[in-house]
Parts: sequence; structure tokens; C-alpha cells
Amino acid sequence: MNLEVLNGLLRPKSIAVVGASDSEGKIGYTVVKNLLESGYEGDIYPINPKGGEIQGLKAYASVLDVPGDIDAAAMVVPAKFIPDVARECGQKGVRGLIVIASGFSEVGRDDLETEVVEIAHEFGMRVLGPNIVGILSNSDKCNASFAPFLPLEGKAALVSQSGALLIAMDASTYIRRVGFDKMISIGNMSDVNFADMVEWLDHDENTDCISLYVEGLRDGRRFMENARNAQKPIIALKSGTSAHGAAAAASHTGSLAGSGKIYDAAFDQAGVVMASNLNNLFDRTLALSLQPPMQGENLLIITNGGGVGVLATDSAERYGIPLHFAPEEVQEELKKHMPDFGSAKNPVDLTGMAGRDWYQDSVQYAFAHEWVDGLVILYCETAMTDPMDIARGIQAAVEASGVTDKPVSVSFVGGERSEEAMRWLVENGIPAYGEPDAAVNVIAALREYARNEDMAAHPFDPFTDVDEAAAREIIKKSRAASERGLTEVESKAIFEAYGMPVARTRLSETEEQAVELAEEIGYPVVMKIVSSDILHKSDAGGVKVDLNSADEVREAFTTIISNAKAYKEDADIQGVAVQHMAPWGTEVILGSVNDPTFGPTVMFGLGGIFVEILRDVTFRIAPVSPDQAFAMLSDINGAPILEGARGETPKDRNALAQLLSRYSQMVCDLADEIQETDANPVIVYEENEGAIIVDARIILKKVEQ
Ligand code: ACO
Repeated sequence: MNLEVLNGLLRPKSIAVVGASDSEGKIGYTVVKNLLESGYEGDIYPINPKGGEIQGLKAYASVLDVPGDIDAAAMVVPAKFIPDVARECGQKGVRGLIVIASGFSEVGRDDLETEVVEIAHEFGMRVLGPNIVGILSNSDKCNASFAPFLPLEGKAALVSQSGALLIAMDASTYIRRVGFDKMISIGNMSDVNFADMVEWLDHDENTDCISLYVEGLRDGRRFMENARNAQKPIIALKSGTSAHGAAAAASHTGSLAGSGKIYDAAFDQAGVVMASNLNNLFDRTLALSLQPPMQGENLLIITNGGGVGVLATDSAERYGIPLHFAPEEVQEELKKHMPDFGSAKNPVDLTGMAGRDWYQDSVQYAFAHEWVDGLVILYCETAMTDPMDIARGIQAAVEASGVTDKPVSVSFVGGERSEEAMRWLVENGIPAYGEPDAAVNVIAALREYARNEDMAAHPFDPFTDVDEAAAREIIKKSRAASERGLTEVESKAIFEAYGMPVARTRLSETEEQAVELAEEIGYPVVMKIVSSDILHKSDAGGVKVDLNSADEVREAFTTIISNAKAYKEDADIQGVAVQHMAPWGTEVILGSVNDPTFGPTVMFGLGGIFVEILRDVTFRIAPVSPDQAFAMLSDINGAPILEGARGETPKDRNALAQLLSRYSQMVCDLADEIQETDANPVIVYEENEGAIIVDARIILKKVEQ
């Protein structure tokens, strides 16, 4: 990416406002007024066919008449005029277009949007928007937008796909005391998208934390790569479920994917911390922009009230950082700063008698102790204490501890005096919240961020003992023969080409052939109807299991064919599959969908009701290394079943991880051909005894006409 061009667009030294106006109430009026009021120090060039003066500035009829260079042009003329003014901007050498105007792809005018981007690219310009509020930057004193004012100063940057939400967040920064250096509206993302913004903000000296409001991504893989490479924390609030809803999905996996799970997986793999709602986005942004990540698991809570202590303890467990008791020596020392009836366990309860000194001494000692990885300090306003005094004590303790590599957060529960004390704490670099739950939640975010950083890319090392050419040959032959799609036998052969253990399956067209195959495969066998017209084979009486002799195979063949014909008279029957009957074990399901945003994905879950009813599955963007695949197995709620819970023997998770990793390579290698796949069920046996794919299905992409 050319950072220089984006610098011109996002940190312009001169701005033309195309459609600048002297009529109050017009956006072209507000943008000029905002630039003036924000104290913008670069050159402002109002552009209006009437020329003259606008808000005291000389106006030009066209950007081509402007004497100086123009970095960015804010476009506030109706959409239909934008292509022409964009071309003029290109001729003038403008570097970026801030297209505030609406009336493009959001109302079906994709053509107009594409035209503007094509013109921009012809001249080497980048386009922000269209359909945006504009850009706001405190460090550049630049409000090139129609948002009312610059946000409260700080080190976070917000990139928002929704303009209205950006305006709302801008105003509330002053109430919430969360400071931002930049707020950038990216609207329709016709050109500049989240991937660009993450990369650019990662290089921006005034940004410490990147905060995103995302409705959908354009270039999922590049976003993930840029997010993973970023040196700064990224936090995202994602709204809306996946665009590819359950209804459109052809496979089981497809319907499970249609619930935002793929986005969750992608953000997680990219090291992005998630926010659950707007409040949470603010809360977490504040903490991530003020505090370092939490590098270990030991969270200590110090409180003057039992109730808030218990609430915070519950929160800690809910957010995945359950509390442990501090070592004896820590407890002994803390007991010196509380009455006899206090508690030095965790939470440390200094009791309602705690004043500034007890807080200050215990915080200073605990924060500096090597066992403590993060600290939450709670305070309930009492008549005996002054909240500001407590706040000053906390801040002094944190400073005196000399610790800068551990996070601390605070919650004061009380009235106006507590609010004021918390404002003071935030101004002094300590995130503070009215809710104990929020104080714990943000520490969990800092822990998540550290874990993500640790997850130093498990590079995917492709398996070399795979036969991609053989897999492609099967697909080619099948496509050439008909449009029916791959049969179970063909699908399984592709899985086998990727070195995955598959219950051997062959297609028989006659009774005698079925017997021959059964004897070759070995009894017992399962027989199943193969017909692209019959998807639910059992319902059609098309499956017979546990067949142990030639006679049983012959009889099964005849019954299956006649059942199938009875079920659907004109069914196109390819034959009957004869398959080795895998011994019983634990059923799991693997799947994949080729997602339009992120490309190939893999899914894992336990079979049966776990997937059907509980939808207990987990996704990853493919490929995944065996290590990442192994971690996936612990993601689901049913993980203890594989780990060996309640006297159950542990299952062969290594074999499953290998299988998943190979599977992920298959769907990536063949991403141009494969749309969705299921391996369902896969039977996994006890440790060291492997796993086997019993049934598998590959749905090919439709051929573009
Ligand atoms: N070059 C320069 N100026 C021009 C040109 C041109 N080629 N053509 C017209 N102008 C002038 C007009 O004469 C007018 O100036 P005047 O007030 O002196 O007469 C000015 O540009 C504006 O043009 P208008 O036709 O008056 O357009 P108006 O201001 O009504 O609307 C706007 C333009 C704001 C771009 C509108 O079309 C629009 O898209 N509004 C929506 C913006 C928006 O909501 N963006 C999304 C934000 S996200 C959210 O939802 C909050």
C-alpha cells in the first residue's frame, strides 16, 4: 500500500471543499465551518461555481483554478456530479477524495461508485467513502466532516462504517471520557477499506489503539493479514450476522456458518479483540489505549466492599480470568493494611473502614508483586472517605510501584463525587468505570490481547504427501460427465487423495459386483443408495448396515434399489455404494464453506445432537496447522467428551487435529472448485487409535456461464 497517498487523503496539508456553500444548513457550509472552527492550519479552498467568497475564504469555480497544491478534496456535491469533479481533481493532482455525498451503491448506483473509483485510480488518487461523514483528527486540528466537533483528545482512532454512529460516538466521548485522536468514516468502502485503515493507523504516530465499527469487510484475508501484523491493539464491534444466511446454504456447515461465527473466527485468528456492544467498545477502547496487555493469568481484586467483590469475582470467571488466591506471603503482607475482620484472599477486602492509606499501601505492594499480573481496584463510596482522596491514593500507588507492564482498572460505585474521582483517574491514565463488571471486562480484553500476541503465527506447513492432481482429475471427470455434482464415492476419493482416513467405499452397479466389492473391502459392510435425486438416504430406505455375508449383500442390493424406486420413481440411480463398516466410536463432524469474504474455512463439532440441536461448533479460516486444529478441539462446549470426562477415555485428538489440518489444506488447494464440504460423521477412537471419515460430501462451485 502506498502510505504516502493515504497520508495525503487522511492527514491532508490542504483541503478543497467541492460544493462549499454560504447557505447555513447545507453540508457544504458545515464542512467549511468545521474546518475553520477546528483550527485547521492547512490551506482551505472552497470550490463553488459562483466563485466569490465563502465564509471569508476566497472561493474558486473549479479545483483547476486553485493556485496551490491540494492534498484532499471533500466532495459535497450531489452524486451525479462526482465523476466530473473527480476527474478535475485528478487533473489537478489531488491525492485523495473524501466523498461525503450519498447516492451510490447504498441505493443501487454501483455503476456510479465504480466510475468514481476508476477515475480516481486513473490519476493515482484514493477514495474514502462515498456516503460518509468525513474525517476528524485532533492532532491535525482537522474536522473535515459534518460531525459537530472534534472528539475528546486521546490516543485511540475510530474507523466506522456507519456515519451516524461515528457522529454519535464523537459527541459521547466527552461524557464517557474516552479520548480519540482520529475518527474516520469509511461508508461504502468503494476503495479505502478496513484493511487499508488498519495498516495506515498502525503507522500513525498519534494512534495507540485502533477501534473499529464493522458491518462487513471487503477484503477479509488482507484485513486479517494487516491486523495480525499490526503492533497496536485492535478492537472491533461487529454488527449484523454473516451475509450468507442459513437459507442460502446448501450444506449443514453452510447453515451453521450463517451466524457470524466465521467473522468471530477470523477476528480471533487476526488477533482482534471483540466488543459486545457500543458501551463495551468504549470501555475496552479506553483500557486498550491506556494500559498494557496482561501477560499472565493472575488477577487480583482489591475492594472495600464484599458485594462488589463478589460481583467482580463472578465477572472474572465469566470473562475467562478466574481468580486464584495469592501466595501466603502476599496475603500476610496485605493483612497489615486491613482490620482483623478483613480478608486477604482474592478479592482482597480492605473493608468499609479502608481509607486512602490502606488503599495506597496495599495497591502499591500488590501491583509490584511478581505474582500479580493485573489489578482491579473497587471502591464503594462511604461517608468515611472522600472518593477523590482514594483516587489520588490509587494513582500515587500505581506510580510509586514503578510498574508499567501490567494493567490496572478501577470501579467506583457511588454518586457525583465518585464520578468526579473517576474522571480524574482517567485523565491520569487509569481507566475507571461505574460498573465493577466493566472494570473486570476490560482487564479480560487486555488479557485477550496478550494471548493473541502470544499466538505468534503457527505457520501452516503444507502436507507434501497429498495428490492435488488426482483430486482435480476426479472433479474434472465428474464435471465433464454431468452436472449432478460429486457423488459420495467421488467425494471420498478426493479426501483420500489428501491422505485422510476414509471408510473404504466403492460403487456397485450390480448385485454380483456388490458382493465382489464387499469381499474385497472385508465384512461387515454398509450399503447405501447413490443417487443425486435422493439426499436423505435413510428416509428412502436406502441404507443397510452390518451386512456380514454375500447373501446379505445380494438381498440388501435388491431391497435398496426397489426402496429407492418406490421413494422416487424417476430417480437417477447411479448404483449402490458398498462401504466398510467402521467400528463404533465418538462421532464428530468436520465441514467447510468457501466464504465470500474470507475464502475457505473449516468447522469442527461433535456429531449428533451436539451439532443438530446445540450447534456446538467452531470455525477457523483455513488453512490451520495441526496445532491450531488441536486448539479448535477445545473450543467447543463438548470438549470434555474428547478430553475424557467422567471416566470416559480420552479420544485420539492428535489424529483429529491431523485430519482437520489436511482437510483445511484440501479446501484451500481446491478453493477455485469447492464451495462446501461435510465429513459427517467422522468416528474418533481412543487415544492412538485414530479416526475415520465415514461419510463425506463435496459440493462444487457452480460453473459461471
Ligand atoms: N463544483 C462545486 N460546487 C458545486 C458544483 C460543482 N460541480 N455543483 C454544484 N455546486 C455547489 C452548489 O451550487 C451548492 O452551492 P450553493 O449552496 O452556493 O448553491 C453546493 O455545491 C451544494 O450543492 P447542492 O446541489 O445545493 O447540494 P446539497 O448541499 O443540497 O447536497 C450533498 C449535496 C450534501 C452531497 C447531498 O447530495 C448528499 O449526498 N447528502 C447526504 C450526505 C450524507 O448523509 N452522507 C453520508 C453520511 S453518513 C450518515 O448517514 C450520517
